[in-house]
Amino acid sequence: MTRDEERKATTRNFGPVKKALVIQGSPRGRKGWTDHCLDKYLEGLTGAGVESEVVYLNKLNIGHCLGCFHCWTKTPGQCMQKDDMPPLLEKLISADLWVYAVPLYFFSVTGLFKDFLDRTVPLAEPFLIEGENGLTSHPARYKGNVRLVIISVCGFPETDHFGALLDMLRRPYRNMIVGELLRPAAEAIVAREFFPETYSRAMDGFIRAGRETAELGYVTEAAEQAASAPFFEDNRFFYQMANQYWTSELEKAKSRSEA
Ligand SMILES: Cc1cc2nc3c(=O)[nH]c(=O)nc-3n(C[C@H](O)[C@H](O)[C@H](O)COP(=O)(O)O)c2cc1C
Repeated sequence: MTRDEERKATTRNFGPVKKALVIQGSPRGRKGWTDHCLDKYLEGLTGAGVESEVVYLNKLNIGHCLGCFHCWTKTPGQCMQKDDMPPLLEKLISADLWVYAVPLYFFSVTGLFKDFLDRTVPLAEPFLIEGENGLTSHPARYKGNVRLVIISVCGFPETDHFGALLDMLRRPYRNMIVGELLRPAAEAIVAREFFPETYSRAMDGFIRAGRETAELGYVTEAAEQAASAPFFEDNRFFYQMANQYWTSELEKAKSRSEA
């Protein structure tokens, strides 16, 4: 089976995509490149009629999970911390598409996003079951056919760097993932006038992925590849550009501290 066929088969009984909840996990919020790529994806998604809400984790107060398991025993499904997470869990329960938009930090998700993930434990029940892949799992507390699209960006120019992040998210969400949109060399977007064609093709990939999520219920491999396609033929050009930028930032900082 091709990836597209697998996704089609996984989501056969899922129903239409109507309501998307985006969890945006960049500490830079709206100012970063995660949001830039997310905007394109949402252009395709909402343009095809899906309602969406973006939740910026950097604007919320979400504490670390305390590991008390009250959400499994004393108050099943409810966390004892009265911060911004309980209402967010309600939003997750009522959405039929989750979009996790999070940049790569240290080969993984950001700390903000990891706190969010840990605090979704109330969505599972404590019992141990054998999952479809033969590995131990917890049953979902709320049965629903929720889809998940992952959007991630990183600084380095290769998609290989997303390996650990993908592995981490595929483990719990294997049967929900309908798209993995990865944008390497995202910081280069600031200088997009130097590579307009490859930049536009990648952004078209994000728009197409949004439209496909709405219309097909999953993202095709072709759209994923377009979103991730290299901006530069030769990384040496990218290194030169990036290193010039960092040299000038260092010089600016030095002259400010000397002034
Ligand atoms: C603490 C930290 C860790 C990072 N780790 C990686 C990394 O492991 N690999 C990588 O390619 N980029 C890494 N980056 C670069 C970010 O992925 C990049 O700056 C990205 O654009 C951040 O997303 P944002 O613009 O939406 O905030 C890191 C950045 C920071 C601040």
